Amino acid sequence: MRTAIAFVVGLSLALVAHAQTLTVADRQSSHAYTTKELLADPATRDVTVDDIVYHRTMTYRAIPAAKLLKRTKTGVDDYVQARATDDFSIAIPARLLELESADTGAFVAIEDPAARWPSLPQAKNKESAGPFYIVWRTGRTAEISSEYWAYKLAALTVTDSPYKRWPGLAVDASVAATSPVRRGLDRFVAVCMACHRFHGEGEGTQGPDLGTPMNPVDYFQPQALRKLLRDPASVRHWPDQKMPAFSADSLSDADIDAIVAWLSYKARQRR
Ligand code: HEC
Repeated sequence: MRTAIAFVVGLSLALVAHAQTLTVADRQSSHAYTTKELLADPATRDVTVDDIVYHRTMTYRAIPAAKLLKRTKTGVDDYVQARATDDFSIAIPARLLELESADTGAFVAIEDPAARWPSLPQAKNKESAGPFYIVWRTGRTAEISSEYWAYKLAALTVTDSPYKRWPGLAVDASVAATSPVRRGLDRFVAVCMACHRFHGEGEGTQGPDLGTPMNPVDYFQPQALRKLLRDPASVRHWPDQKMPAFSADSLSDADIDAIVAWLSYKARQRR
């Protein structure tokens, strides 16, 4: 009898460990959706995208992000923090996730345990982009950062804008509106902060803090830093290297210059 009970308890623990959930939360409430629940939602349908992570056309069972956010309290200036199971965390403007027409906008793709997705092209352990993955059908507009394609997604949390949450990133009001420093800050927030903090501010922890103890502009030659941001493996290489290369579609040369300008501005500010 005791063995039977132990077996049943062990089995249910194993089921809990394998049950995949996506937590959707606002400032008051939170709901954890199971894979099964989302796959059965009437809004879930086949969605075909030009997938920038798998580098090919992919079709997913997916629910419009707007549908998931509909049950949350979201203000016009709010952001949604998309947190993954691997310390990746990116703030996406809620208004982009809420875009909804017949076939454009953001969708949360749901991996059916009975029909697994292929492993990610860069994955050494054969992991897929599941259990949940934000995919976009808006075409390649500059507004949709490559990092907004958040895979291995675990939670979507409505929160304040990163500019408000992390005031240490800010550019002083005296800096001209047209200065590349401002664009650099915007690109840093939309791309780099998925994995990097700056002087402790931010949520991503896959990569090192880019402010503390030193800012990369203080130890990289500008040309080497630009090369590293385009393609880290072109500067140095090791087996566990994780920072992605950025194509010109996701990060233009002007964006890279702007990010370096913002990093240099922040380094000067502290001297
Ligand atoms: C998907 C995660 C990810 C994103 C996005 C990302 N990085 Fe990284 N970055 C890393 C990781 C991880 C490292 C540590 C080295 C490695 O494993 O590749 C790193 C290393 C670096 C380094 C080298 C630091 C050092 O001292 O060696 C710099 C500089 C850097 N990143 C800047 C950036 C900037 C600027 C952006 C935005 C354009 C960015 N990264 C986007 C993950 C990321």
